[in-house]
Amino acid sequence: DTPALLDRFGRVATDLRISLTDRCNLRCTYCMPADGLDWLPRPELLTTAELARLIRIAVHRLGVTEIRFTGGEPLLRRDLEDIIGAAAALHPRPRLALTTNGIGLDRRVTGLVRAGLDRINVSLDTLRPERFRAIARRDRLDDVLAGLAAASAAGLTPVKVNAVLLRGVNDDEAVDLLDFCLAHGYQPRFIEQMPLDPQHGWDRENMVTADEILAALRAAHELTPHPAERGSAPAERWLVDGGPGMVGVIASVTRPFCATCDRTRLTADGQVRNCLFARTETDLRDVLRGGADDEELAELWRAAMWAKAAGHGIDNADFVQPERPMSAIGG
Ligand code: GTP
Ligand code: 5AD
Ligand code: SF4
Repeated sequence: DTPALLDRFGRVATDLRISLTDRCNLRCTYCMPADGLDWLPRPELLTTAELARLIRIAVHRLGVTEIRFTGGEPLLRRDLEDIIGAAAALHPRPRLALTTNGIGLDRRVTGLVRAGLDRINVSLDTLRPERFRAIARRDRLDDVLAGLAAASAAGLTPVKVNAVLLRGVNDDEAVDLLDFCLAHGYQPRFIEQMPLDPQHGWDRENMVTADEILAALRAAHELTPHPAERGSAPAERWLVDGGPGMVGVIASVTRPFCATCDRTRLTADGQVRNCLFARTETDLRDVLRGGADDEELAELWRAAMWAKAAGHGIDNADFVQPERPMSAIGG
């Protein structure tokens, strides 16, 4: 009888996304300027113990059943295994997932699985080294591919692969990415770019849409709707050539799924965000550091979620992009 994270529209948040750091070892053009961002000073980040406590409150008092660690790049935290281990020790045990760029994953994935990691999503926008350098501004494609292979070998199947297609850059690679993923047993998902880049370069008219992506894939493969219930998943899934291979499309902009959203977010510096696009945040870090007890923190979190808006409103005339970049919010 855990009081849930309810909002005014009847949605219940059971899926917690935590950004563990705003730092990253890549500089994807749609996410960061070439010089990076003004990183949060270390003391502002939640410590291992603070994360463990907030996760325990979320699971024990707020009904969270699934936790995804993201960033920035979560593998940059040396204590990731400890954080996952603390979450995995809870009863009931939450499902634990990671979204990563894959760099260094080959060396850590076994330990992460041993600590309790259940699922993994790896970002991969291109299979061509020169394009990877152009998009991520670092020459690390081989590291990502090694990370993917290691994750699969460690039993994290199906490994999901996230690709953001950018017009004139990699939008001709949808079929190649799909074929590569199917050949390796990975599950590709193509994502519509959202207005979250700090350079404010997002352009609705120029965005590669889900329908365009599906049309490109259908030129090479037969797609049929996946029979499983979608539930609150952001991805619409399709069976490829009758299955078992499948592909997902995350149409956040052209077919928003806000009405079924089950997410709550914690930023790297300990602020609750009730939406990726929220205009306000609720501080837990300073309250926690000030000596608040578990129920006070839980009550602040509930109030933050109650105020959640109906949707992201990207298409509204008064839409304003969040001040925080994606890497600090926790994609
Ligand atoms: P699964 O549970 O494995 O399906 O994970 P996921 O797709 O929710 O998470 P992932 O971290 O792989 O993110 C994939 C894409 O979905 C990214 O572009 C995220 O920014 C986007 N995404 C995640 N959560 C939300 C959300 O609440 N709203 C919107 N609009 N997009 C989201
Ligand atoms: N829109 C959509 N997806 C994005 N990602 C990063 N920036 C954006 C954006 N503006 C993706 C990353 C990663 C996931 C967490 O979000 O590629 O796979
Ligand atoms: Fe790093 Fe992810 Fe942003 Fe790329 S999209 S720079 S991998 S945080």
